[in-house]
Amino acid sequence: MEYIDLRSDTVTKPTPEMREAMAEAEVGDDVYRDDPTVNHLEELAAEMLGKEAALFVPSGTMGNLIALLVHCQRGHEVIVGNLSHIYLNEAGGMSALGGIQPCPIQNQPDGTLALDDILASIRTEDVHHPITRLVCLENTQNICGGVPLTPEYTRRVSDLAHHNDLFVHVDGARIFNSAAAQNVPVRELVEPADSVMFCLSKGLAAPVGSMLVGTRKFITRARHIRKMLGGGMRQVGIVAAAGLISLEKMTKRLDDDHARAKKLANGLRQIEGLTVDTDSPYTNMVYLNLAEAVPVNAQQITQKMRHLGILVDPENTRRFRLVTHYWIDESAVEKTIAAFRKALN
Ligand SMILES: Cc1ncc(COP(=O)(O)O)c(C=O)c1O
Repeated sequence: MEYIDLRSDTVTKPTPEMREAMAEAEVGDDVYRDDPTVNHLEELAAEMLGKEAALFVPSGTMGNLIALLVHCQRGHEVIVGNLSHIYLNEAGGMSALGGIQPCPIQNQPDGTLALDDILASIRTEDVHHPITRLVCLENTQNICGGVPLTPEYTRRVSDLAHHNDLFVHVDGARIFNSAAAQNVPVRELVEPADSVMFCLSKGLAAPVGSMLVGTRKFITRARHIRKMLGGGMRQVGIVAAAGLISLEKMTKRLDDDHARAKKLANGLRQIEGLTVDTDSPYTNMVYLNLAEAVPVNAQQITQKMRHLGILVDPENTRRFRLVTHYWIDESAVEKTIAAFRKALN
């Protein structure tokens, strides 16, 4: 059975064009910097993000970890959102592998960290304290609804951080969704940040891979740490070839995903028993709850939906996140709305 899969944009399979490009990719040993396809991908990523250099990494988690390991030493502290992926969903890598301590502060409903909270969390010079080194932002902020952070906000946080001798890293797993939703060039969104990780393997539909961008000096050190973590890959142009299509083509079609997420949310709003979050969706994620009167839980609805050919992701016993992506077309949206109506009956 061919499912309609709304669990995440990570489920995107490569397009036929990607598979063809992968089969024909020119490759070499990337640890020797001999892979022309990877070199091309890294140059293009750096140019699009407006940074000096870029590094191809196997995953977003590794890209974020490398950034933290470049910016921080053991005993340093990182200011992160309490609902951020880095804090909640990266297996505690910064502490386990870097001896780095997270300082979680509250994510506001709009995905931001309040400037006053950031300022209050910066440790004072004291022999007892860890040394604050870095602020991490997540754009789009996933758990807060896939909400985009503005260039102005990123600038304000970066000014505050730099004024206090801190670096800024952006977990931009979905930074191109953020740029598309705000109709701003991606380089403008990240201009004040010291480093950015973004994923090719989510809404940009590549099968594998993320990019880390920053100064040449930062990327030189990042390349060393990638090797240390076992992320130095060999003839990986085979994968980078798909990433090139992500950057050249997939970045230009994200408005379609956002429009379909809106259509999906509007359809679901008509169904008794479902409460779509007021401002959802901001980008490609629709968040909704089961109304109190509904006698079944989200797991039971998930099972019913599966039988109807639709895969959805229950966030907890009453809440769902649905994510649109390349493989969700208009007909998939309509079928999903119809299936929810049926599952709630
Ligand atoms: C906001 C955010 N950051 C980082 C990651 C990590 O990416 P990966 O799954 O490639 O490790 C994810 C993955 O879903 C994410 O949603």
